[in-house]
Amino acid sequence: MYTANEKSYDKMIYNRVGHSGLKLSAIALGLWNNFGSVDPIQNQKAIIHTAFDLGITYFDLANNYGPVPGSAETNFGQIMKDDMKPYRDEMVIASKAGYVMWPGPYGNWGSKKSIIASADQSLKRTGLDYFDIFYTHRPDPKTPVEETALALDQLVHQGKALYIGISNYDGKQTKAIAKVFEDLKTPFIINQSRYNMLNRDVEENLLPELEKENKGMVSYSSLAQGLLTDKYLKGIPANSRANKSTIPFLHRSQVKQTLGTIEKLNKVAEKRGQSLAEMALAWDLREKEMTSVLIGASRPEQVIDNVNALDNLHFTKKELAKIDKILDEQKKIDWSKK
Ligand SMILES: NC(=O)c1ccc[n+]([C@@H]2O[C@H](COP(=O)([O-])OP(=O)(O)OC[C@H]3O[C@@H](n4cnc5c(N)ncnc54)[C@H](OP(=O)(O)O)[C@@H]3O)[C@@H](O)[C@H]2O)c1
Repeated sequence: MYTANEKSYDKMIYNRVGHSGLKLSAIALGLWNNFGSVDPIQNQKAIIHTAFDLGITYFDLANNYGPVPGSAETNFGQIMKDDMKPYRDEMVIASKAGYVMWPGPYGNWGSKKSIIASADQSLKRTGLDYFDIFYTHRPDPKTPVEETALALDQLVHQGKALYIGISNYDGKQTKAIAKVFEDLKTPFIINQSRYNMLNRDVEENLLPELEKENKGMVSYSSLAQGLLTDKYLKGIPANSRANKSTIPFLHRSQVKQTLGTIEKLNKVAEKRGQSLAEMALAWDLREKEMTSVLIGASRPEQVIDNVNALDNLHFTKKELAKIDKILDEQKKIDWSKK
């Protein structure tokens, strides 16, 4: 039987989400990969327990996480039931709807029909009474933004979600939906988007809008799926994401395209007395809109390493300039190439 570490709150930093009343752990755990039906449940438990013991309170799900889609929510529900139920009020649990989940015209995108049904399915799979944050997973170009916003607002009124988030919305799209939420008085608080040293788009096209709107930001793929760690410096390990057939999102070619940059960044991290993973997370957190950085993990030791990022969050101007120079020299990465 799991009992949480009594000192779990000693080290973690909790950041307020924009101007809301909610605080999130500066480091959050995502269950996109390594929590599916293909993954050992004991390892999943060990990762979640380690995270919670280190003060991580925010756990991020989506309807389609697995594989198979839905199985990460089912497994998380099992772990809640077995071990984590006593700690429910110490946790922020999020899910999302918006990517394809079931066949036919209603299992995808952002219609009211899809979002309401998907949220109900997610609650059933996790066994939870409500989600702390429920996200629209991506903007839907064909559904009126008012319809998506109203569906999310309804989840709040039904007690199925406490707060609302949006994911993968750029600054313009954020501004449009924020206006509707404001009219509805929906507790919209956060945008979840990709941000890491190798993907800096949000610096121009999202963060200024979030600052204006007083909303928070949580980064995903904060370690570029593991590229921003020391794991690929000596080749591609057999048990790494770039080599796993169950995870088709990172490929050997992307390791090859970034290796020179990773080697240089690793040297900067060494000089700071940090691992590259720690420095990459600290670097994300330097932006004032960043509430939290989401990490993925295939084993508990990675969570421990990543939380150590909090030991050195400060960058000198010289370090930042050096990092900028290294990143400017990186040629455009072809994320589509396998
Ligand atoms: N909203 C969206 O559209 C969206 C999209 C993507 C992700 N997300 C969210 O963001 C979360 C994180 O995304 P991500 O998995 O891409 O994050 P990530 O943190 O960039 O990558 C996680 C992977 O990096 C490796 N890793 C992590 N820490 C390490 C360390 N200290 N040393 C060496 N390797 C380390 C592990 O891969 P190995 O398997 O190689 O060990 C781990 O599975 C997801 O779980 C999900 O909740 C959201």
